[in-house]
Amino acid sequence: MIQQIIKNIPHLNHSMIPTSIYKLNKISKIHNTDIFCMRDDMTGFAFGGNKTRKLDYLVSDAKNQGANTLLAVGAVQSNFCRIAAAYGAVENMQVHLLLSGQKETIPSGNLLLDYLFKAKISYTNSTENSKIESESIAIEKKLKREGKKVYRMPMGGSTPVGVIGYLNAFDEILSYEKKNNIKFDYIFVASGSGGTQAGMVLGKAITGWDGDIIGISVGRNSGELNTVIKNLVLNTAEYLKIRIKIPDIKVTDKYIGKSYGEHTIAGFNAISAFATNEGIILDNVYTGKAASGMIDFIKNGKIETDSKILFIHTGGNIEIFE
Ligand SMILES: Cc1ncc(COP(=O)(O)O)c(C=O)c1O
Repeated sequence: MIQQIIKNIPHLNHSMIPTSIYKLNKISKIHNTDIFCMRDDMTGFAFGGNKTRKLDYLVSDAKNQGANTLLAVGAVQSNFCRIAAAYGAVENMQVHLLLSGQKETIPSGNLLLDYLFKAKISYTNSTENSKIESESIAIEKKLKREGKKVYRMPMGGSTPVGVIGYLNAFDEILSYEKKNNIKFDYIFVASGSGGTQAGMVLGKAITGWDGDIIGISVGRNSGELNTVIKNLVLNTAEYLKIRIKIPDIKVTDKYIGKSYGEHTIAGFNAISAFATNEGIILDNVYTGKAASGMIDFIKNGKIETDSKILFIHTGGNIEIFE
């Protein structure tokens, strides 16, 4: 059903191969619950991560519009900007990145890769999303005056087109359930700009899947994140020309710590547990916090012990090398 709906927008080509889902045997044993992992850290392009799924569709849309220039915004260590830079390089498109934060004298992590992919980078001291977006609109205007055909993407690539990446991922989850005769009760995912969770919530709305998709906020308060996700789901449904009844959106802001990007002890403990038990590397900003939230839900009886849980590993583990 989902594939049929995505075909409502015939120009969107998708080239990603499905990622693997498997049971985390040792972590499941420790927590006496069945915990599975969707390895979207291995989406296979420029180190992968959830942003590969979004850009898979965004770049297809950009090419369809005849764009020759991608414009993306994010923090200095943005995973989205790294993958946008890689797509642009491979597709022979110019990539402009507006990064919020200080220029690093010796670039590390994602920024090092942005330079490797030959992105044109400018920096801003603004930290407020709305200010960064308006600065990027000014850059878009300037590039257009220079004759470039620009495809501008907001923070995290969370537009209806980007969200379709995770509607498609949700379809992979349903296929896995069917093939393996299993039914997940809960999905846990790190939620920032909201597009990843929105894609799966839209999938739930379309199919009537009755598990819970729990977004672990990495920065926004629950109320704000809830509204952002709801709007993304509705706008994506409209873009796909379908009518849906919006399901309950579940998010929590309890695992952010001091603020976005600040490490937490619980997040670090989750990183350590995944590394030493499963050989899976999480990061401090997104997936470590999401895993710490999931573990807390299990430990504190917020979900039933016989539950089947799917953890979405959204990538970002380059952060370990910053
Ligand atoms: C590694 C990683 N996980 C999760 C997220 C959150 O995804 P979204 O912005 O779609 O909510 C991001 C966003 O930057 C990310 O880089």
